[in-house]
Amino acid sequence: MNRELLVARATAAREHAIAPYSAFKVGAALLTGDGKVYEGCNIENASYGLTVCAERVALLKALSEGEREFEAIAVVTDARTLTPSCGSCRQLLWEYCGNLTIFLHSLKGLDATHRLSDLFPHPFDASNL
Ligand code: THU
Repeated sequence: MNRELLVARATAAREHAIAPYSAFKVGAALLTGDGKVYEGCNIENASYGLTVCAERVALLKALSEGEREFEAIAVVTDARTLTPSCGSCRQLLWEYCGNLTIFLHSLKGLDATHRLSDLFPHPFDASNL
């Protein structure tokens, strides 16, 4: 699956975002090793701290369906800067997806592609235990 299709899926997922507190809607689409896509959106909570990012929603959906091999994730917002995943998402993506390809897109016309190892160098993981 190419970048455009995965970004389109993340853009569609963003429509389901529940973001009444930040008004910052995020969509994610996670591509598995065998070509399936799991979508996620951010889900906020009045406690603020219980908010879950779009990337983690997509990841946990996929893991709970038994998926274990991942290729790429697309993250879409409408922001004036791109939205590289937060630290908590990076930690979880590293644990379960390894050196994922990350497609960032803003509906304002910005694009970038990263590897997770670029965004998250020197991770703490099972190799440190
Ligand atoms: N958010 C995500 O869903 N993914 C990111 O990569 C960054 C932040 C959400 C969390 C919160 O609902 C809103 O964006 C503002 O931080």
